[in-house]
This record gives sequence, structure tokens and C-alpha cells, in this order.
Amino acid sequence: MSVIKSLEQDIKNLIEEAGYKIDNFTLEVSKRKELGDYQINDCMSLAKIYHKSPVEIAKDIVKKLETNKNLTNINIAGPGFINISLSALFLTSFMNDIKQDIKLNIDKVHPRKIILDYGGANVAKTLHVGHLRSANLGEALKRLVKLLGCDAISDAHLGDYGRPLGLVLLEIKKRYPNLSYFNPAYQGDYHEIDLPITNQDLELIYPQASLKAKEDETYLNEAREITLKIQNHERGYYDLWEKVIEISKADLKKVYDALNVYYDLWEGESDAAEYLDELLQICRDKNIVKQSDGAEIIEVKNDSDSSPMPPLLLVKSNQTVSYETTDLATILERRKKWDPDEIWYCADARQELHFEQVFRASRLAGLVKDTVKLEYIGFGTMNGEDGKPFKTRDGGVMSLKSLIDMVSEEARKRINKDMVEEADIDKTVEKIAIATLKYADFIPYRMTDYIFNPAKFSEVEGKTAPYLLYSTVRMKSLLEKAKDLPKDNYYEVGIPSTKDIILTLLQLPKILLSSFEAKSLNEIAEYLYTLTNKYNKFYAENKVLTEKNNNLSSSWLLLTNIVYQTNLLLLDILGLKVPEKM
Ligand code: ARG
Repeated sequence: MSVIKSLEQDIKNLIEEAGYKIDNFTLEVSKRKELGDYQINDCMSLAKIYHKSPVEIAKDIVKKLETNKNLTNINIAGPGFINISLSALFLTSFMNDIKQDIKLNIDKVHPRKIILDYGGANVAKTLHVGHLRSANLGEALKRLVKLLGCDAISDAHLGDYGRPLGLVLLEIKKRYPNLSYFNPAYQGDYHEIDLPITNQDLELIYPQASLKAKEDETYLNEAREITLKIQNHERGYYDLWEKVIEISKADLKKVYDALNVYYDLWEGESDAAEYLDELLQICRDKNIVKQSDGAEIIEVKNDSDSSPMPPLLLVKSNQTVSYETTDLATILERRKKWDPDEIWYCADARQELHFEQVFRASRLAGLVKDTVKLEYIGFGTMNGEDGKPFKTRDGGVMSLKSLIDMVSEEARKRINKDMVEEADIDKTVEKIAIATLKYADFIPYRMTDYIFNPAKFSEVEGKTAPYLLYSTVRMKSLLEKAKDLPKDNYYEVGIPSTKDIILTLLQLPKILLSSFEAKSLNEIAEYLYTLTNKYNKFYAENKVLTEKNNNLSSSWLLLTNIVYQTNLLLLDILGLKVPEKM
């Protein structure tokens, strides 16, 4: 248990000893530091329960609190607020408690197995900013839940089964009608066919095909037929589909690597195909399937719905399955293969209805136990300066690669050429640019829209990745310079100059739990900035490396190391890589 939590536990017990029962007790950081480190505001609510004045209750509680040697400066303010501060002894022993392993300053959650479905790239389609947000958020949540003691399985859940693939294959057919994939008489091995197409070509093919389908009904119908051929595993088409997936996946892996995003599973919508028959059977057995104009649907509307809730389209009239259906089959697959306690889906806000339909149908069909949580984790949009979703100059979808390029340009301007060797510049620029993009994405609460501003994101001062990375690299170099100096113990003499930082460190477990609850990284992002900023202020005011008082020097270096380790831990949760030098 973290030090702050066990202190809260002790205080709760003291309040109960004073004669007052209290359900949840948490220490509130004082907004007025001159009055104390923390405030206890519970006397107000206790007054209502116990029909006593808050001040009287406060007095009873204070008497008990005074017996605890970890607390000092206990006083009652106003109508019954209790202010308390932490003793130097307490703060010193906290630092010595966590000096070997900063992970002792964390509270775990009730352990559970969580599948995280994020990224959701679509094969043969350009990755766009929505995919960045999903991958960024999902990866960080995965790292967070693991740190907090859960089992996590991450899955890319590639979009590889729907009409876009039918369109891509059709367009390839139009361009290269003589490819053996389209020759029913072909007897050879499909793997030996040399497909003259790169991932770049694929990214151009899809938008073209999609445009044609909008203008030309026959073309669209042909694409539908090919989609069905893929879903029916028809020779030739299915093999070409596999080839396209292979090309696209290789490219996606590179992008995700660069983003510091890793998957345990690289499954796609198509992997659920094996479970489709069983899924349809379950739904029919449960009597939840209805016929509608040749299609099969599931009604998911409730009486309490105030907004439209259309039925889920299970099987389309042309016998292909929808995005909803593959998601349902995937739930079945995941239950059978992994038996998770929770499944978390990170997808942009436009998909909220989709997931609501899928979750409701899944409950109706009983695909998972009632206790299994299905969570949709949405996020807002990244906008341009005009406040509208960030687009290319001609109004097209902004690709993730262009975003990375824009931020890289800024990062390159700020590289210190005296620090970074010529040969390392490109790699360093990439690390900083990706970190910049990722951190800017975490600063707002996940549902909040924000404006893409590469110059602002790249500033070396302020809530930016360059500021954090630069400061962290500096802590590291300070510790290297001090490697022969003693820093094995924290002494009380160190407290006055560092108290604010130590109080911030004490808050860490709460920040992590609160981020976990909100499934948003903004508090961690903010905390990293606060901690770093406080440390930098301390660093500017004190001569850490040349301090002559050994006890002070040891305490300060130990503090530097703890802040440095905490930064590394949190930067890693956010998926930001720290360059060697910058
Ligand atoms: N491929 C989808 C998209 O680009 C996201 C997939 C999200 N995950 C899921 N299980 N549906 O929007």
C-alpha cells in the first residue's frame, strides 16, 4: 500500500476512534498552502449525520489526530475545516521508503484481465489522425493497467473484411486484368505471383475506387460481389486479398513501431469469420433475429432510449456481413480464446452508436457473462486553427504521416547541434517529433477536441514533450556527473527546500488511479509537467552538484533520482521515448 494511502487509513481510523463513522476518506491537497498541506472537509457532512456543530466534531477529531506523530500544525479553520501538515519525519521516511523502488509509490487496482482494442487501422487505407488518437490512447491505457496490476492483451483489430477490400481488389482487377488471381483456370501457386503493387499504391487505389463506386452503380455492385467472394474464401480473390493484407500490414507495423505502439495480437475483422456461423446460430436460438427486406437484423432499442437506436444489421441482403457482425463474432472469439473480464474499445466519437448497438446485441445474445464489462472509450477530434477537423489544404483527410512530417520539421529546428552527433540527428528528430505529437494528444481530457499547432507543441518551455524530455535528459546527466557522490539516504535537512516536490510525489498513486478511472491520460500528462516544473525550479535555486553539506547533497541527489525515475516511468506509460541527448 502506498504511503499516502496508509496515512489516509490511519486518519480514517482516528476519526472513527473519535466517534465518527466515515465511508471514504481522502486527504484533499490544501489550496491555501500557508494553512497546511492538506484539508479535511468531512466535519461538514458529519455534522448533518451526528447533529452536532462541525467545529465541535473538528475539535474531537483534532484531539485524536494530535496523537499521530506523522502530522503537525493541526488546526481548525472557519466553520470546521481541519488543516494538517506532514511532519519532516514522515516526509523523510517516505523518501527513504521509495528510494530503492519507486513502484512502491503506487496503489494497484483489483486485478483483472482486460483486452484492449485500439488503433483499428484499415488495411490498404491511409492511417489518419483518428487512428493516431486511438493508438496513442489505447497503448498508454494498456501500459497503465499493467502497471496497476491487471493482465492486458492488446489487439490491433485491423479493418480487413468489409467493402473497402472489395473495392481495392476490384480496382486492382481493372488495372491488371491479366493477373493470374483473376484467371479461374490458373493452377499454379498464388504465392509465386509477383504483384506489382506497393503500400503507397494501395493508399492511392482505395480513394479512387471509393470515388468510382459513388459515381457508378455497376462498379459498386462489382465491388460488393468481390467482397462476398473474399468472405466466401473464393480461390484467387481470397489469395489476392491475403497478399494485399500482407503488404499493408508490413507498412502498418513500421508506423506503429515508430509510434511506440505494440500489439500482442494482430487480429483483424476477418479473424472472427470462423465464429460467424456459431454467432448466427446463437442469435437465432435466442430468437432475437428478425427478417427485414432480405436482411437479418437484431432490434436493440429500449423503451428508455431518447435518441434513435436503429437495429443492428446482422446479415445484409446480399449475404455479406457488416462491421457490427464481425465485432459481435470477435466478442465471441475473445470470450472463447481469452475469457477476459473487460474489453475496452478505443475508437473515435463517430463510432459510439456502433458500439452501443454491438454491446446491446451482445447482451441479448448472451455472448459474454453479465459481469464482463464492455467499454467504449471515445475521444474528440484534432482540429485545425479554424476549429474544424484538421484537413489537408484541399480538404482531404490528413494522413498520420503528414502530421508526423509537420512536427518533425519543428523538432529539427530545435535540435542542439552541439549536443547531438550528425549521425544521430534523424533518429533524435523522430523520437522528439513522435513524443511531441503524443504528449500534445494527452494533455486535454480525451473527449475534448484540440487544435493541432506543431510550433506550440514543440516549444521548449511549457506543457510540451520537448520540455519534459529536455528536463529528463538533464536530470540523467546530473546523476551521471554525481555518480560517485553518496545519495543513499534522505535526511531531514533536505525537507525545507524540497517539500513541495515530495508532496507532489506523494500524490502519484492518486493520479494513476484517477487516470485509470477516467481512462484518460490527461492527469498523468499534467502531473509530469507539474513534477518536472517543480524540480526545475528547485534545481535553479540550489547548487545540487556542488553542495558541501553531505546530508543535504545526499538528500538532493536522492530526490533527483526519484524524480528522474518517476519521470521515466510516466513517460513510458505515455509511450514517449527519451533520447540520449537533445
Ligand atoms: N477500423 C475501424 C476504423 O477505422 C476501427 C476499429 C475499432 N475496433 C473495433 N473492434 N471495431 O474506424
